[in-house]
Amino acid sequence: PESTRKIHVNPDKCQGHNRCKALAPELFELDEFGNAREVGDGTVPRGLEKKAALARANCPEFAVELAGE
Ligand code: F3S
Repeated sequence: PESTRKIHVNPDKCQGHNRCKALAPELFELDEFGNAREVGDGTVPRGLEKKAALARANCPEFAVELAGE
């Protein structure tokens, strides 16, 4: 079955620190201002759950949200 974990970058909180993309380039992309957003609909592929959690833990703005199990 597909993973049901989803990441989301809160655009009101993101300040472009770029740690998320450095830690999990498969899950994040940057816009023209250097702020991050999730790739696609944010579904975390199997095997990348730890990277997603790491990215959330390392965002100094607490902008990375992780939902699901
Ligand atoms: Fe933004 Fe946090 Fe990533 S501030 S660029 S979501 S590390």
